[in-house]
Amino acid sequence: MSESARLITINPTSIDDALVVEAGAALAAGKLVAIPTETVYGLGCNALDPDAIAGVFEAKGRPASDPLIVHVDGVAMADTLIEGGLPTVATRLAAAFWPGPLTMVLPKTEIVPDAITSGGPTVGVRCPAHPVARALITASGVPVAAPSANRFGRISPTTAAHVVEELGDRIDLIVDAGPADHGVESTVVTFEGDEAVILRHGALTAEALADHVAVREVGEADADARAAAPGHDLRHYSPRTPAIATTTTPGDATEGDIVYVAYDDRAIPLPGGWSFFSLGDRSDLELVARNLYANLRRLDAAAHDLIVIELTDAAGIGRAIDDRLTRAASGIVTTTDVALAGAVAEVLQAKPSPDPRRR
Ligand code: TXA
Ligand code: MG
Repeated sequence: MSESARLITINPTSIDDALVVEAGAALAAGKLVAIPTETVYGLGCNALDPDAIAGVFEAKGRPASDPLIVHVDGVAMADTLIEGGLPTVATRLAAAFWPGPLTMVLPKTEIVPDAITSGGPTVGVRCPAHPVARALITASGVPVAAPSANRFGRISPTTAAHVVEELGDRIDLIVDAGPADHGVESTVVTFEGDEAVILRHGALTAEALADHVAVREVGEADADARAAAPGHDLRHYSPRTPAIATTTTPGDATEGDIVYVAYDDRAIPLPGGWSFFSLGDRSDLELVARNLYANLRRLDAAAHDLIVIELTDAAGIGRAIDDRLTRAASGIVTTTDVALAGAVAEVLQAKPSPDPRRR
């Protein structure tokens, strides 16, 4: 780990081979290298090097119980990590969606260190679509483990500047290739027979998957499947400002320094002191997703007393957006005006007043 990470820029439309070779060698040598992907920036390391993996967990402050995704440059490399190679159903999905934002959780081979899988028998594998990410993996000659390049529980980075903010003093190298395309993480699936079970909604929609395979969601009551997704606790992607997710508009909630986050620029009547922030146009949720984490960072920096966020309640990429917004709100979702007003009052009461006499 260095005092401050070296930052290099690689243009994805005109890749500088010398820089790729340098960053690939750093990965192979066990360094911690933040890499661009089409979803979010990842904190990459040699997935076959237990010391490097330990460094990733330490830099992020991530509990050892939360397994890492391993990134490959193609099916041949994936086959080295998966017991018996990719099964038929996974081969079909790889043909349809790799390279791309699909992570498949499958039984691991012996070469995958236990630290990657949190001791479990399965490994999550994905082949990223970002040309710089794939070039770096190929140059390193090894599979590359990469969780999102944020401190544990925090908002995922979609630009190199976000990575600097999160981990700049804890890692060796940051490869900047511009803003991430999708802006939300990959879709994570496991398999039950020939059925794909979605463990995390992401940039690849359930609808797109369903064109190629039978798809099932992990239900709330589905304890086994949820245990297969150990990193999925409800406080994640979190701003420091308290947040509430909602499916209704504010009605007559308490006044205060509160920002109401929704879509479009339509005028919503707001209680006194509340301001309005748009995540973008409801008719272009791909764009809402792309800008989502940067917007959450911006909202957090504004240091309001409370962020109230309207869910999209939409299918497609709306599922991934709503999942992240719900986690940003630590799982607090209100579905009626009365419940929202109550939750707002509760958060404002819990907030310590700067002047104790005015409590
Ligand atoms: O788009 C992405 O997936 C990004 C970029 C960098 O590729 N990576 C990413 O990694 O989001 P991370 O570590 O932030 O999230 C990975 C998720 C975690 O929630 C983890 O629990 C789950 O994938 N996961 C990884 N391996 C798993 C396994 N063997 N079984 C079940 N879940 C697994
Ligand atoms: Mg993450």
